[in-house]
Amino acid sequence: MAKEPLDTIFLDHLCRRGAGSIHALGRGGTEALLDVLSFTEGESVLELGCGTGETLVRMAAAGVRPLFGLDNSETMVDCARRRCGFCRVQDKVEIRQGVEGSPWPFESGALDVVFAESVMAILDRGVRRSVVREVARVLKTGGRFLFSDSIWRQGVQRETIMKYNERCCADFGIPQATVDWVGPGACERELNEFGLDLVFDGVLAELPKRTEALPHPVEKALLRSRLFTFQARVRAMLSPAFLVREFRFKTAALRLREVGRLIEPRLVVARRN
Ligand SMILES: C[S@@+](CC[C@H](N)C(=O)[O-])C[C@H]1O[C@@H](n2cnc3c(N)ncnc32)[C@H](O)[C@@H]1O
Repeated sequence: MAKEPLDTIFLDHLCRRGAGSIHALGRGGTEALLDVLSFTEGESVLELGCGTGETLVRMAAAGVRPLFGLDNSETMVDCARRRCGFCRVQDKVEIRQGVEGSPWPFESGALDVVFAESVMAILDRGVRRSVVREVARVLKTGGRFLFSDSIWRQGVQRETIMKYNERCCADFGIPQATVDWVGPGACERELNEFGLDLVFDGVLAELPKRTEALPHPVEKALLRSRLFTFQARVRAMLSPAFLVREFRFKTAALRLREVGRLIEPRLVVARRN
């Protein structure tokens, strides 16, 4: 079968599969991020690049309000809405679709928190800058911007990054991670330019792990979310084209597995000044 056009094909594939956590650290990574977020009651929260919506389900079930999701992909937005409906939290979260290069569908200074998981580092420079500009616009003064991403370890050579990003784009339609944030202060400078002060930039996996169980309504919603994923996956596997893609992505991931030692899960926290 001929290779398909690249673009966002891997993300579309994951979406078709109903994948819940579309990021390297899986659900543990989301929990670590949410632990750091530790919302105050009534804070308005936006998940940027909400993907297929599992984190929104989890947060809605935990009582985070008002809660919004934003994604540029129509297929992701559709999947996230269906997941929220399936998990019975559709009236607790509002999912909006963004358009690349256009202002986000939110008023200026409307939100307390914007967070993103595995979104910022895969954006190309121009898009990322417009995203950071929008984050700064929609946040209240003092509002928080948090994101976690797989980012190249300090010291990885530019040529190595370019080589892997090229392969990743060819195989998955997205780069592994931006080359722009290598070197001390690179990410901070970009945030500062748009009125965001860096509060923390460190390795996410080294943060203390949650020890207590999740509240019952959250566990229940997550269970339904997994059922949603399971159903979508079974449905997708009935399609031979899906199985071919699945095989192709799996073998491509094996070829790229050595990248694992060159990247690390980073958490960045910034505040709107
Ligand atoms: C790797 S996925 C991560 C999804 C989700 N955050 C998760 O961890 O499961 C990246 C997501 O960001 C979305 N995205 C990419 N560029 C975007 C942009 N400029 N604005 C909003 N969403 C974007 C993609 O459509 C995709 O859903």
